[in-house]
Amino acid sequence: MLQTKIANIKLANCIYNASGPACSSLEELQALGQSAAGAILSKSATLAPRAGNPAPRYVDTPWGSINSMGLPNKGHAYYLAAAKELASFQKPYIVSLSGMSLADNLKMIAEMQEEENIAAIELNLSCPNLPGKPQTAYDFEQTEKVLAAVFAQNNKPLGVKLPPYFDLLHFEQMAQILNQFPLSFVSCINSIGNGLVIDWEKEETLIRPKDGFGGLGGDYIKATALANVRQFYLLLRPEISVVAVGGIKSGQDAFEHILCGAKAVQIGTHLMKTGPSCFAQISAELTAIMQAKGYQSIEDFRGKLKTA
Ligand code: DHB
Repeated sequence: MLQTKIANIKLANCIYNASGPACSSLEELQALGQSAAGAILSKSATLAPRAGNPAPRYVDTPWGSINSMGLPNKGHAYYLAAAKELASFQKPYIVSLSGMSLADNLKMIAEMQEEENIAAIELNLSCPNLPGKPQTAYDFEQTEKVLAAVFAQNNKPLGVKLPPYFDLLHFEQMAQILNQFPLSFVSCINSIGNGLVIDWEKEETLIRPKDGFGGLGGDYIKATALANVRQFYLLLRPEISVVAVGGIKSGQDAFEHILCGAKAVQIGTHLMKTGPSCFAQISAELTAIMQAKGYQSIEDFRGKLKTA
């Protein structure tokens, strides 16, 4: 009932993890393999391992989460080697890449392409937590340059992880760039970058890096995520799948994102709060909504949002 396809990749379940929470170590990736998730997506990898920013760097809040992890990860070779270990789960393994430079991204993509047990690459153009490094996808010229270089050498299904946009002209400008390339998918949105959550009693920030500024996830960002999913669903070529991420913690949230046009949905903050059992929970809730409405597949309602 929840099956879907991204490019030519079949997912038995359209619900899987967002890159970031609980997907850094092989043990965590295996737990995703054992869960009801429809795919396994890795933590964003850099060329070399990184320790990331000082703690506290991820805090749950009543409305979601704030983080400034700073790309702690085990390095791209680790996530490449994990592909063979994860093959037995027989679900797509997708590697997220977030190189510190275009050259790093091109090198990592070239290596990942040679591994048949990697189904796709999610190229992250939107990490907000690196001091001194802007989010690539807020620089439209640089994004076009990166994609031109990537697709000059790429032959694996590849999509991009986008930051949230807030201006209608920006959606049009970014879609016009993305439509020029043979992208398989766009995943939107990354956290709303550089929010600030504070403890009024202690009179201090919740997280330590970057003076407390960090990426927001969870309930704070659902409405912005829905808007981004809807805009890109309407503006991108239909061959480019939209993968939704932002504020999904229930079957209803997943249903709303699919109604806006999403072919799959990713879970971030809620996975961090509740662990990999969230995939069975959200799947059961989404299935119940679909049954009550008489829908047999997500294609029966995907994108069919009505305006009042
Ligand atoms: C990190 C955060 C992100 O939102 C992202 O896309 C990549 C990395 C991080 O801080 O580790």
